[in-house]
Amino acid sequence: MKPLRRSRSSALAPAPRPPGHTARALAVVAPLAFLVLTACGSDGDPQPEEEPRAETPTEVVAVIEKAECLDCHILDGRGTYEGPALNRVGARLSSDQIRRKIVNPASFPAAGYENLAGRMPTDFEERLTREELDRLVDYLAQRQ
Ligand code: HEC
Repeated sequence: MKPLRRSRSSALAPAPRPPGHTARALAVVAPLAFLVLTACGSDGDPQPEEEPRAETPTEVVAVIEKAECLDCHILDGRGTYEGPALNRVGARLSSDQIRRKIVNPASFPAAGYENLAGRMPTDFEERLTREELDRLVDYLAQRQ
């Protein structure tokens, strides 16, 4: 028996679509694609998955470990997200402000983290030597 050409080709034909279908689908997909691309852009704010960008000098790592900053902060993908990520803190704060925040955390709250003000320990000036504090501040200030 001969295959019925007509019915076969009509089975392969695309299903009829209501007019405007493609335009509507685009209207949904385009803003989504924009959001995804924007979120993945590398020039925006620090992202949670940000890859390590810089080698932190070992003497700075030692200070950060001694002070346990990464109990509450992220630096190059290490630490936790309680407070703001420190990856680009030098772009937000001057070195004077960074020093002030470490020595006297109550002096000003981090923008967007006002509800967590008071969480940062207040005894870093006693726990760190003058040199350790300088090293830490200099390093964070140049993280931009
Ligand atoms: C117990 C948790 C905790 C520890 C430990 C801690 N911080 Fe924080 N830190 C916070 C929180 C929460 C904030 C945001 C609220 C605020 O501004 O007080 C903050 C804010 C900051 C800011 C301001 C950031 C900005 O974007 O404005 C800096 C700078 C900072 N911390 C540096 C440090 C450094 C350096 C250390 C280690 C010497 C450290 N912190 C240790 C919790 C902590």
